[in-house]
Amino acid sequence: MKKFVGFIGWRGMVGSVLIQRLIEENNFGKINPIFFSTSQVGEKSPIIKGISRSYLKNAYDIQDLKKMHIILTCQGAEYTNIVYQKLRSTGWKGYWLDSSSYLRMNSNSVIVLDPINIDLIHSAIRSGVKTFVGGNCTVSLMLMALGGLFSRNLIEWINFSTYQAASGAGANYIMELLKQMGFLYNEVSIPLNQSSNSVLNIEKKISQLSTSDQFPKKYFLAPLAGNVLPWIDVITESGQTKEERKVSEEANKILNSKVFIPIDGVCVRVGAFRCHSQSFLIKLTEDISCVDIINIIQNHNSWIKIIPNNFKDTINSLTPFSVTGTLDIAVGRIRKLNFGSKYLSIFTVGDQLLWGAAEPIRRMLMILLK
Ligand code: HSE
Repeated sequence: MKKFVGFIGWRGMVGSVLIQRLIEENNFGKINPIFFSTSQVGEKSPIIKGISRSYLKNAYDIQDLKKMHIILTCQGAEYTNIVYQKLRSTGWKGYWLDSSSYLRMNSNSVIVLDPINIDLIHSAIRSGVKTFVGGNCTVSLMLMALGGLFSRNLIEWINFSTYQAASGAGANYIMELLKQMGFLYNEVSIPLNQSSNSVLNIEKKISQLSTSDQFPKKYFLAPLAGNVLPWIDVITESGQTKEERKVSEEANKILNSKVFIPIDGVCVRVGAFRCHSQSFLIKLTEDISCVDIINIIQNHNSWIKIIPNNFKDTINSLTPFSVTGTLDIAVGRIRKLNFGSKYLSIFTVGDQLLWGAAEPIRRMLMILLK
């Protein structure tokens, strides 16, 4: 019998990408999907080829949730916080798959990223773990890019700078970024199209606009268009932001590290739409040539796209626009730094909604069905 899989949060950005991927991979044929809603109970479930439509069930109804073999939620941490314990305390032994951070660091959950930790996932299933959580997008994208180096214990520590897209903050933030771009353009479009106008006058007008009350910044609370915001999430006691702390915590949990690998740096929001980029300064455990490094990275997983270290390839293929909407993990700017032969520089770009969020969860669902 096909397993009942309850979907919650399938209408949001991550959820929609997940549904799209399940359709692309013909995965719906393997399950009995049941759609839940937190706000539109009783309305029709989505139209999916080959799946008969029914009515949306109440995502807070524990009795209905209990009937599922697997629950897959992209609804967010608040929902997990409200429902998860209630459901488990009824004795429900089904699998809970979650894209939110709420249960990630729980001792009885596993963070899933199967190209990196398939052995850990299999042993967790064998030992009865029932809660599997997708990692933070920055973490998953970093591990996908550097998986080869981690698997050969070639990394002593990493310092990162991220360039995170608006999508990581949510759909409203993508819209706001566009509104900000439009606001700036509209205000200067006349002088911009008059060749007599000096660029310094236009730039002056733009910087004046950045502090205007009219500037659309309800979500970001600051301009992102024409700007960078070196702060993501809340402060922690160490002075790191929570996003920065997650990188080392979650990466070491996914890697099941025997010895904790220090990973630290700055997380920055930039005006990209749905791809996160990251720059790494890596201290290697051995002096190994760049040719070998490229081979190791390339051979680790089939989504890696090595971008040659030249201007044309870099600006065409190592950017958010060139990677967006694909499962590619672009890795480039690979070179040894002047600090010494064990210091490596790498730049990577990945889609924040695919490998960064929906894909590890979709693949985990398929692993469970096997
Ligand atoms: N927290 C990430 C961000 C996205 O703000 O970009 C989710 O992992």
